[in-house]
Amino acid sequence: MTAATTATVALARLVLTDFRGYARLDWHPRGRILCITGGNGAGKTNLLEAISLLVPGRGLRGARLAEIARRGGSGGFAAAGRFASPDGAFAVGTEAEAGAARRRFQLDGAPPRSQAAIAERLAAVWITPAMDSLFRDGAAARRRFLDRLVFAFDPGHAREIGAYEAALAGRNRLLAAGDADAAWLAALEDAMARHGVAVAAARRALAIRLDAALAGGAVDPFPAARLSVQCPTGALLDQGPALAAEATLGAQLARGRRADAAHGTAGAGPHRADLVITHAGKAMPAALCSTGEQKALLVAIVLAHAGLIAEARGAAPLLLLDEPATHLDAAHRAALFEALCALPAQSFLTGTDSALFQPLLGRAEFWHAGAGQLVPAPSFPAPDPGGLL
Ligand SMILES: Nc1ncnc2c1ncn2[C@@H]1O[C@H](COP(=O)(O)OP(=O)(O)O)[C@@H](O)[C@H]1O
Ligand SMILES: [Mg+2]
Repeated sequence: MTAATTATVALARLVLTDFRGYARLDWHPRGRILCITGGNGAGKTNLLEAISLLVPGRGLRGARLAEIARRGGSGGFAAAGRFASPDGAFAVGTEAEAGAARRRFQLDGAPPRSQAAIAERLAAVWITPAMDSLFRDGAAARRRFLDRLVFAFDPGHAREIGAYEAALAGRNRLLAAGDADAAWLAALEDAMARHGVAVAAARRALAIRLDAALAGGAVDPFPAARLSVQCPTGALLDQGPALAAEATLGAQLARGRRADAAHGTAGAGPHRADLVITHAGKAMPAALCSTGEQKALLVAIVLAHAGLIAEARGAAPLLLLDEPATHLDAAHRAALFEALCALPAQSFLTGTDSALFQPLLGRAEFWHAGAGQLVPAPSFPAPDPGGLL
């Protein structure tokens, strides 16, 4: 099946209200590959962030809601997307009023039964310039990247993470207060064990499948990447069934109360996991690779992941590639564009300079961002409808 005939989940309309610099945007993208160009501060990343927030989670910037609402606006914001998909069109909306602690979702005009109901329809994966430091940052950033990949594979993963983190935070508070009720602690540790093993299992399952896909061959000239999760809780699943792993984690937590009280958090559990990425050709940990090689490794992983999800779920996640050309040489850029054309995924690419996307002429739709609006890029011919949805 070619990309053009493979069904794709694709954003067909985006309406933003008081979303960062956008007072009101009504955008009708028609392409499967969208290139959005504009100068610094034109609103390119804001646009990708809005799309990322149509999926449950904290979005591409991990921002607080109060930061997102447009300065000088009502204090709240809204984003709504209409999607075409193999199962028919659907609409997702999200909004937060001024001062709201969480945002609300709508699926086809009604509150969804759960956020997983949206995650079952829609997934998004991104690479941003902030991720240039992914291999220098602490493990938390790499876990977030990994979990984003897992969400696309397993829509229930977000719920498990939320339940695990709530139990962990509750236990941390109890231990910090001292003199904790043992039965209450045990109940929280039981919840941590159940949800923690589910989190570790979902990450492990995705990592095994993704690593196998990566081992199956990289898109030339992208480096062959290998990926694994370093997680003692996940390693328990190599030794026995999930129930045994839960019992072991529960026992580790019960034993560790005194040390955990001193450290402020638990010494065992999947919140300590790390994602390990290796440049297979050089047998080099990603942290020791050049910035460009690191970027190429991330792109290779995201491309393999999109292919895997397309196979497993019938539709690939939306790919939000913020300034993907930065750090990539011309050969890697060209290979990335070819790979995107071949994938059954809608992708959004940003850049300051439209010349970087020149190889996509005729195959992508070009838009120019600025002054709180998007307009068709003037210097490019209309896209070939054959390449569109
Ligand atoms: N809450 C907000 N209200 C109004 N403007 C904002 C808000 N948050 C960010 N901005 C502005 O949005 C502009 C565009 O940001 P961004 O999308 O990151 O630009 P770029 O096109 O370089 O990716 C910036 O100038 C920033 O100051
Ligand atoms: Mg930007």
